[in-house]
Order: sequence, then C-alpha cells, then structure tokens
Amino acid sequence: MSPIKVGVLGLGVVGGGTWKVLNQNAEEIARRAGRRIEVAAVAVRDVEKARRLVGDDVLVVTDGMEVVNHPDIDIVVELIGGNTVARDLILAAIANGKHVVTANKALLAEFGNEIFAAALDKGVMVAFEAAVAGGIPIIKAIREGLTANRIQWLAGIINGTTNFILSEMLATGQSFDEALADAQRLGYAEADPTFDIEGIDAAHKLTLLASIAFGIPVQFDKSHTEGISGLAQEDLAHAERLGYRIKLLGITRRRPEGIELRVHPTLVPADCVLANVHGAMNAVLVSGDVVGPTLYYGQGAGELPTASAVVADLVDVTRLQTADPGHRVPYLAFQPDAMVDTPILAMADVQSSYYLRLRVQDRPGVLADVARILSEVGISIGSMFQEPHGETEADIIFLTHQAREGDIDSALQRIAGLPFVHSGVTRLRVETF
Ligand code: NDP
Ligand code: HSE
Repeated sequence: MSPIKVGVLGLGVVGGGTWKVLNQNAEEIARRAGRRIEVAAVAVRDVEKARRLVGDDVLVVTDGMEVVNHPDIDIVVELIGGNTVARDLILAAIANGKHVVTANKALLAEFGNEIFAAALDKGVMVAFEAAVAGGIPIIKAIREGLTANRIQWLAGIINGTTNFILSEMLATGQSFDEALADAQRLGYAEADPTFDIEGIDAAHKLTLLASIAFGIPVQFDKSHTEGISGLAQEDLAHAERLGYRIKLLGITRRRPEGIELRVHPTLVPADCVLANVHGAMNAVLVSGDVVGPTLYYGQGAGELPTASAVVADLVDVTRLQTADPGHRVPYLAFQPDAMVDTPILAMADVQSSYYLRLRVQDRPGVLADVARILSEVGISIGSMFQEPHGETEADIIFLTHQAREGDIDSALQRIAGLPFVHSGVTRLRVETF
C-alpha cells in the first residue's frame, strides 16, 4: 500500500521529535500501521533550519495554509501551539476533510467544543494524545481502557516544568529562576512559561481529562487555577516537617452536586505515590468505580516522549481512516449526543483539608483566639506547631480536618483581621487520595 502523507505544522521541540521518531522507527511503525507514514510537507518560520533537519525531499513552506490545502496531504499534524494561527490551520484542515493530530492543549481546552463539532460534521478525526502528560497514554487509557467504569476522580502531576522546579528547589536548593531556566533549556516549558508557572497549562490538560472522564463539554473557563509562583520556600520546608510534600496537582472529582475542577499547589503525604514523582515526570491517578484506583506514570514533556504520543496518534488515524466515522472512538470518549452538562462546582463548595500558616505576635491568648474562630465555623484542627520568628513573632502552622472551602475562607477573613496577625494567612490544600 502507498504511504499515508502527513503535513507537519511546526518543527520545534515536538515537531522535530516527531520527525526523528518517524524516521528512527519507520519499519516498526509501518508494521503496526499497515503502511508507511511519510512526512511530505512541513510549515515553519525558519526554512533553512527546517531544511537542515528534513533535507530536500520534503516540501518546506512558511505558510501553513499551503500544507492544509495541499491535495496530497491526508493528515495534518499541528505542532505550532497557541490559539490563533493554529486554530485557523486546524479548522481549515478539517474543512478540507483532513484528519488532524495535535499536541495543543491550550487550543483544545479553549476551542475544543468548536473544533470537535467541525470535525464531527466533516467525519474526520482529531487526535490529541500528546496534549496531556507528554508520553503517557492517558487519553487512551481513560477513553478506551477504562470505558467500563464510571470515573469517580482523577488527580495528577500534569505539568513537567513546575514539577521539575519544585523537585530541584527541594533536592538541590536551586532558586526558582535557575530551575525554570533549566526547564526551558530542556524543552519542557511552554513558549510563555507563565502558562506553566501559573498553573494554566495544567488547567488546560485537566479540562480535557475532565471531559473524557465525565462526558462533559470542554470548559477551561470554569477551572480553578493557581500556580506555584506564590509558594514560599518556608512552606516547602514546613510541609516536609509535617510529613507532606507540595506538588502542583490537577484534581477533578465527581460529587453529587457537581464536578470539582481545580489546579493548585497541594500537600500530599510523603509516602503517597504522587509525592515521589520527581523532575519533569508526570503521574496521574484515576479512580473508577469498577477498577478502583489506577496509576499512569512517565515523561510528561520534552522532545521524544511527546513525539511518542504524536506518532501513536498518527498510527491510530492511519489504521482508522477508512472506518465508518460512527464506529470510531468519540473525541471526548462519550458519544457526542450523550454529553451532559453537569455543573462545575464553585471553589467555595470544594471539600479538602487545609494547611494554614499565620505570622503572629508571640503572646498569650493568640492561639486560643485563632482556634476559637476556626471552631465557630465548624473547622476541626488535626495538628499544629509553632516556630519562633525573631524575638517577638512566631509562625503558627495548622493542618485542619476536611472542611468546606467557603467556611475556611470566612474564618481566614476574620483571622486576618485580628490585631496580632501580622501578615496575610497562607492557605494550601491537603489531599490524601
Ligand atoms: P516550539 O516553540 O519548540 O516549536 C514551534 C514550532 O512552530 C517551530 O518550529 C516554529 O518555527 C513553528 N511556528 C511558529 N509559528 C509558526 C507559523 N506561524 N507558521 C509556521 N510555523 C510556525 O514548540 P513546542 O514544540 O515545544 O510545542 C509545540 C506544541 O506542542 C505546543 O502546542 C505545546 O503546548 C505542545 N506540547 C509541547 C510539549 C513540550 O514538551 N515541549 C509537550 C506537550 C505538548 P521555527 O522553528 O521556524 O521558529
Ligand atoms: N510545558 C508543558 C509541561 C509541556 O511542562 O508539562 C508538556 O505538556
């Protein structure tokens, strides 16, 4: 059979990796796909740089529309990123009846409903395994492997850059900025690294995971998003002392009233598997009612791991392109007419345990006043310790039992107003899974 022809948009970290993997494992990939997968065209900004990688036999252009409009191209692989040029190119490819593979979680999290609707209308596939957790086949696992289950919750480290930064800061004492520079050098970070640091990239990925776990539309705008830029080194140390480690987690959970959808730094017990995921590695725990908890672990970012997922999608699309569209795996795991609009819960209604740190004047009665306010809103303290800060001040650290976030916030508002509380109260969530 003749090769299937692929047009690749973007030949950077992931695009370059995809080219390498397709060449390095060409025979093995063809044995699996049933025919060879051939890159026939690429679109980039820097033609000379691209030529050095792909040689003279591949069409190299600077206008991606030339690729998506090319009659010989069967599959368009979008690896430019962002939601402007990439969105136009993907929608044009779909309109031309071409299948699409993308690693672009930002685009799908914000415009996925539009893109999947357009693809459904045209009967083409949009595959996005590389968009979540790099090389880990988490989309396939949830969408296909766990299809017998009613998914209850999932929680994961789904941003390699922030996990790398937190790991380096703890293990080597490297500064935040140094660790970020290393993550950028290693190709883990987004073009705009604030997407990583502020939890936006993780929220993009979590939004997609929640959709395929629960059969709900993609709704990034409803995700609660907090990053690691506000984390203090002392909280990393206090967490360790309490037997916890701080990780940036994406958590989504089905509750009777709706769905939790949240990304934030989280204290997890030091012996929990997620606490022991280091560097740019990712890990996702998924719990289904039939199977129980399951764990997926692997490299969450970088050239070859991400290319592994892109190429897996290319093989899937190659195998299925002649199948009746109605018999393919639905984009978001559930049949499009069976999606439900379960509400996303407000953060005030989320249930968690909490780590609280207050800097106070070190005098009698302070602890009693704080404990009284917590107890008045029904918050029970699990443990606490105090650490002196200079001659007259102290830090008080509490771990609470499970509480409703709205109750915690109202208590903290009152506590922050007490005259002996000297700076804002730090509040981090604690999860045990
Ligand atoms: P890079 O910045 O390394 O590569 C982007 C590529 O797109 C470059 O080759 C660039 O060309 C090309 N490009 C940019 N603008 C245009 C344009 N207007 N027309 C044609 N080509 C253009 O990004 P990554 O490879 O890191 O990321 C690509 C996608 O993969 C993003 O969506 C990202 O979120 C996602 N992703 C990245 C991962 C990673 O570990 N890096 C992991 C998982 C997903 P030139 O080289 O000439 O400048
Ligand atoms: N910037 C992302 C990360 C790339 O660090 O996880 C992988 O999606």
